Amino acid sequence: MKNYILDKLEEIRDEEIISFHVPGHKSGRIFETLGYKDKLEKIYKIDTTEIEGTDNLHNAKEVIKQSQERASKLFNSQKTIYLVNGSTCGIQAAIMSVCPPKSKIITNRDCHQSVINACILGDIAPSYIEAEICKNTNILNGVSVSKAKETIDSNLDAKAIILTYPTYYGMTYELQEIINYAHSKEMILIVDEAHGAHLELSDELPKSALALGADLVIQSTHKTLPAFTQSSMIHINSHRVDYNKLLSVLRMIESSSPSYLLLSSLELAMDIYEKHGERLMTELLNRIEILKNKFEEDENVLILNEMDKTKIFISFKDYGITGYELDEILRGKYNIQVELSNFYGVLLICTIGNNDGDFISLETALQDILLNCNTEKILESIDYPTNIPIKVFDPRDAFYKDKKKIKIENSIGKICGEYIIPYPPGISLISPGEIITQEIIAYIQDGVKNGMIVSGLEDSNLEFINIIEK
Ligand SMILES: Cc1ncc(COP(=O)(O)O)c(C=O)c1O
Repeated sequence: MKNYILDKLEEIRDEEIISFHVPGHKSGRIFETLGYKDKLEKIYKIDTTEIEGTDNLHNAKEVIKQSQERASKLFNSQKTIYLVNGSTCGIQAAIMSVCPPKSKIITNRDCHQSVINACILGDIAPSYIEAEICKNTNILNGVSVSKAKETIDSNLDAKAIILTYPTYYGMTYELQEIINYAHSKEMILIVDEAHGAHLELSDELPKSALALGADLVIQSTHKTLPAFTQSSMIHINSHRVDYNKLLSVLRMIESSSPSYLLLSSLELAMDIYEKHGERLMTELLNRIEILKNKFEEDENVLILNEMDKTKIFISFKDYGITGYELDEILRGKYNIQVELSNFYGVLLICTIGNNDGDFISLETALQDILLNCNTEKILESIDYPTNIPIKVFDPRDAFYKDKKKIKIENSIGKICGEYIIPYPPGISLISPGEIITQEIIAYIQDGVKNGMIVSGLEDSNLEFINIIEK
């Protein structure tokens, strides 16, 4: 009998792919390099449950409590709680612990799906801050301070704000100004820092939301630090948050059998962060700078890493190569896996787990691809739709309404019954309960033609869509 998942993973493991994607430990190599191999040798032997001596994540009093206190000191929070269901469960618990049913929350339109799902679970109404996009790269910019303030001013009854910082692409913005403004209006500020657990490792990186005074900060330790997938943390950073309420919601939505392998991996990541993090980050930032310098003279190559410098966006669009193509060439021909691609380029997530060899391989591959470039082709895609569709139903009401399947070309002006989530970046263009627009349908149809993947829709061929009839 075939072991489908295991066999595939072993096959991929043996390919020794060069990783510019998550998780941050880069196929476990960092554990081997730094001498943690013995701790992980027979890891199945420490897979346990709540027995004498192992404490309980949902009521931590012993070793888990001590470990969380260590994390809290390291990340400068008032309290830290480990999460084993990713930042997804941290975001949902944060929102539901501060926003009662029928209340309102403000968020950036390009928020992660977990924010809208929390609104469905908790019967909360989201109000959105419009997103802005860079037309040259198709990358969503961070939140505009003036737009955030405008949205706050027109939603003064909102209980809280949740913002993505940094974005998937490493964009940051004047978060502190928004935090201060939100606090002046008595709102709690939650930060989805899923992509920013590493920020305090260098002064060359933007400040973490914790240092800027956010009330609750959720980090995917597994994405940018060396923890196992799903291992995350939520940091409580102010008296405005009810810690016990947060714990109660976590008990509702997180596994009642939290994995000790994931908990141990959080501790390993912390140990590495504390003992080696700053040195490794300095080395990483140097490597990235060297790579950028190598391509500086070629004005047709775009290598962007302006804000969070560990996220590199590489575009060969002026050489006629789409991001989807570049992604495929890097993996197919050079064994290099990027995090994601859009029409114009690829995104690389670099962490303290990457070494010199990775960057040498990357540089060699990019130089080689450039040798075969065709500058004739001009690439243009339809702009990302940033207009916020009209809302007819809040997410929870829409979720429970009956749905009807119709042809997608007949859906414009109708109420959407499902999500439309182009990947990348995995952010919902439209949510259930909102009016479908011409620009949204045109964008996904054009995107799919060019290689974009769209999820959320029941019909993955994009022929039909579920709508809600009034
Ligand atoms: C911006 C953002 N927030 C939250 C999450 C969820 O994080 P996790 O995978 O740790 O559940 C993701 C996942 O990719 C994300 O991109």
